[in-house]
Amino acid sequence: MLVLLALLLLCRGIGSTHGSPDDHAGDSDMMSLLDFKRAITSDPKRALASWNTSKPLCRWAGVTCGRAHQGRVITSLELAGQGLEGEITSSLGNLTFLRTLNLSANSFSGRLPPLGRLSKLEVLDLSQNFLYDTIPDGITNCSSLRILDLSKNFLVGELYLKVGLISGLSALNLYRNILTGTIPPSLGNMTHLENLNLGGNNLSGSIPPELGKLSNLSILFLGENRLSGGIPQSLFNLSSLHALALDGNTLRGVLPPNIGYALPNLRGLFLDNNMFGGHIPASIGNCSKIEDIYLGSNNFSGPVPRSFGKLSKLISLLLYENMIEASNDESWGFLHAMGNCTLLQTIFLDYNQLQGGIPSSIGNMSVNLQYLALSGNRLSGTVPPSIGNLHGLIYLSLGNDLAGTIEGRFEKMTHLQKLVLEANNFTGAIPPSIGNLTNLIELRLSENAFSGHIPASLGNLQFLASLYISNNNLSGKIPVTLGNLQQLTFMDLGNNNLGGKIPRTLGNLQQLIEMDLGNNNLNGKIPVTLGNLQQLIVMDLSHNNLEGDIPSNLGDLVQLQHLDLSDNKLKGIIP
Ligand SMILES: *[C@@H]1O[C@H](CO)[C@@H](O)[C@H](O)[C@H]1NC(C)=O
Ligand SMILES: *[C@@H]1O[C@H](CO)[C@@H](O)[C@H](O)[C@H]1NC(C)=O
Ligand SMILES: *[C@@H]1O[C@H](CO)[C@@H](O)[C@H](O)[C@H]1NC(C)=O
Ligand SMILES: *[C@@H]1O[C@H](CO)[C@@H](O)[C@H](O)[C@H]1NC(C)=O
Ligand SMILES: *[C@@H]1O[C@H](CO)[C@@H](O)[C@H](O)[C@H]1NC(C)=O
Ligand SMILES: *[C@@H]1O[C@H](CO)[C@@H](O)[C@H](O)[C@H]1NC(C)=O
Ligand SMILES: *[C@@H]1O[C@H](CO)[C@@H](O)[C@H](O)[C@H]1NC(C)=O
Ligand SMILES: *[C@@H]1O[C@H](CO)[C@@H](O)[C@H](O)[C@H]1NC(C)=O
Ligand SMILES: *[C@@H]1O[C@H](CO)[C@@H](O)[C@H](O)[C@H]1NC(C)=O
Ligand SMILES: *[C@@H]1O[C@H](CO)[C@@H](O)[C@H](O)[C@H]1NC(C)=O
Ligand SMILES: *[C@@H]1O[C@H](CO)[C@@H](O)[C@H](O)[C@H]1NC(C)=O
Ligand SMILES: *[C@@H]1O[C@H](CO)[C@@H](O)[C@H](O)[C@H]1NC(C)=O
Repeated sequence: MLVLLALLLLCRGIGSTHGSPDDHAGDSDMMSLLDFKRAITSDPKRALASWNTSKPLCRWAGVTCGRAHQGRVITSLELAGQGLEGEITSSLGNLTFLRTLNLSANSFSGRLPPLGRLSKLEVLDLSQNFLYDTIPDGITNCSSLRILDLSKNFLVGELYLKVGLISGLSALNLYRNILTGTIPPSLGNMTHLENLNLGGNNLSGSIPPELGKLSNLSILFLGENRLSGGIPQSLFNLSSLHALALDGNTLRGVLPPNIGYALPNLRGLFLDNNMFGGHIPASIGNCSKIEDIYLGSNNFSGPVPRSFGKLSKLISLLLYENMIEASNDESWGFLHAMGNCTLLQTIFLDYNQLQGGIPSSIGNMSVNLQYLALSGNRLSGTVPPSIGNLHGLIYLSLGNDLAGTIEGRFEKMTHLQKLVLEANNFTGAIPPSIGNLTNLIELRLSENAFSGHIPASLGNLQFLASLYISNNNLSGKIPVTLGNLQQLTFMDLGNNNLGGKIPRTLGNLQQLIEMDLGNNNLNGKIPVTLGNLQQLIVMDLSHNNLEGDIPSNLGDLVQLQHLDLSDNKLKGIIP
């Protein structure tokens, strides 16, 4: 400390001969920063290499000085994303001219420093660190604060009045901490707030109606908490809202019919994973700027409003796990109308109460569509060939009472990565052209009535990780080409009428974890090559006509937990 003081005196001597009060502040600031530096235990990017008393304070990296103070007094300290570790020392609480303190995206731990004397502080960003314990009350003294971001830390405790007293705040972000208690009604006094994010905490109780006083609010994120009750009517007064996220709570009630007129600027409506019910208001079709509508995992009933066809900016519509109905031309009308949503990429309608045939108008949907989920419904009839127009699909699921052939439906969907057709009543052959969908990662065709052979072309699917075709009427041999599927981890061919020998090439499937060939008519010996499947955890070859010895090297499969060879004609010793 003595050495440090000597150095400081030296610096003062060099830096200024006038000895104004600001010089003193400069010295004090330097001491505070050196104290801060001393507590840093790791500086992997050498962010503080320039912090050397032989250099003027104002040329230290991350430090900005105020002009008014002859380059001596720090107005901002910005060291975001430098990988710094250690505690934030309370000496920063002495940088009384500070306007911006940004230490986000480092690995600081410990408590928040007491910053109650920083009455000029406007921006405080300590997000994405490992800070814990409570938010100090003194923060309410930072009366100039406009932006307060403490998101993604481990802060605990209740908010009480603490932050509600900083009346000038325009952004308050406490996302992903461990805050408890209720949302203080006093937040409604912060009338300058434009961005309020309390998501990802452990807040309970109901949403205070006072938030409806925040007339400038553009972003309101209260998702991923334990909030209950309904949405206060007053929130529908917030006509400047761009994003309303209340997802992942236990909120209930119906949405007001005029929601779309009340919130005309909405770009994102995130109400998924709650207990909302009633019909989806048609007025949402008047939110002409909306891009994302997330209403999945609720109790919504009735049809998808046709007015959604007016949403020319819509990108994602998530309605999975509700009780959405469609049974006739009227209630399926939305599909036709939404042909005008040309930016639509994602529509999830799985696990609802859609019935009857899939209208052929599905083929008029946006060519930009990438994710289409319709499984877990009661769709019947055949799949309209027009679905083949949706060339851009990456994910497609359909079900669950569909019938007829799938020939000619999916050939041109060359981007497809996941095709889920399981638990329907599809008949006819698995089209060899499926082997052209070379981006497939997951192919699920189980529990249908497919017949004929497994196409050898499936061996072209070089990225395939999951192949489920069990519980069908497939016959013929297992194609040797399946041994080419270098990425395959799950293979289920059980409960078919497959015959012939198990191809030796299956021993090439080095990633395979689960192999089910049970309940078929396979004969011949178990190939010795299967002993190469080092990752295998489950092997089921039961209920076949396999004969001969059990290859001794199966005993080398150290990961194996489930092995069923029952009901065959095997003999000899168990390895
Ligand atoms: C400070 O800078 C001087 C001269 O550039 C150098 O000799 C010295 O080692 C530096 N000290 C530290 C702690 O980096
Ligand atoms: C803050 O400054 C005061 C005097 O201005 C000094 O007494 C105190 O030690 C400083 N605190 C820290 C932590 O640097
Ligand atoms: C803090 O700095 C990071 C990196 O420069 C920046 O992205 C972030 O917006 C800053 N925080 C605030 C509140 O300005
Ligand atoms: C808040 O400010 C007042 C007056 O400036 C001061 O007396 C008090 O110590 C400060 N509180 C904290 C916790 O810093
Ligand atoms: C802040 O809000 C609370 C509760 O809504 C209210 O009782 C109080 O009077 C308000 N304080 C100010 C300063 O407006
Ligand atoms: C609301 O926002 C507008 C535009 O950003 C701004 O001019 C106005 O001062 C703000 N009002 C309040 C109360 O913050
Ligand atoms: C959330 O709060 C509840 C009750 O207050 C408590 O039981 C639970 O452990 C808390 N969860 C976390 C992650 O802190
Ligand atoms: C909505 O705002 C209007 C006018 O500002 C006000 O009269 C009304 O009471 C508010 N409604 C709610 C539910 O807060
Ligand atoms: C809603 O949209 C329809 C048709 O686009 C329009 O006629 C109607 O005026 C809009 N309603 C409101 C309240 O904006
Ligand atoms: C799609 O938009 C066009 C032009 O706005 C309109 O004429 C047509 O009726 C719309 N189609 C549907 C199905 O809503
Ligand atoms: C499957 O289709 C056949 C013939 O069309 C029919 O007899 C059978 O009931 C259907 N099964 C299911 C589960 O729908
Ligand atoms: C698709 O696959 C079939 C059968 O495997 C083949 O005859 C056809 O040429 C392929 N089409 C394209 C465009 O690759």
